[in-house]
Amino acid sequence: MKLSISQKLITVSALGVAALAFSGASSAAVNADAAQALAKKSDCLKCHAIDKDKKASSFKKIAAKWHGKADAEAKLVDALTKSPKVKMTDGTEEEHKAIGTKDMAEIKNLIGWILAQ
Ligand code: HEC
Repeated sequence: MKLSISQKLITVSALGVAALAFSGASSAAVNADAAQALAKKSDCLKCHAIDKDKKASSFKKIAAKWHGKADAEAKLVDALTKSPKVKMTDGTEEEHKAIGTKDMAEIKNLIGWILAQ
């Protein structure tokens, strides 16, 4: 099921307020340059952009979806390492691309950066 655009906007803006309140704590440890370099190297940006939907949701939308959920990091580690089936914006299904590193610190840094968008 898909949310309508207006439902998404409401969710995103509500979470944006929450994000501001927590941004000091959650974004401090993220190395944005390393995260973006890994995203580029792993071809993530073929399907994801920071703030607009391509073949997949923007990282901003993904951050909004997971914001405040205690298991976000663990779930996204699974999403990036276990190749789950995902639905593209055109409705086709594929296995999600696995991230191009086994280094958990790098993976968590990228997830932290995505969740900070
Ligand atoms: C072939 C296209 C494609 C590529 C390449 C791709 N993704 Fe995705 N990704 C998707 C789709 C489709 C979804 C699920 C539907 C959505 O969120 O739009 C998704 C979902 C996600 C999610 C959210 C998972 C969830 O459960 O909420 C994250 C985080 C993510 N991708 C990060 C990445 C990263 C990091 C890379 C690079 C290693 C990457 N993606 C590469 C298509 C792609």
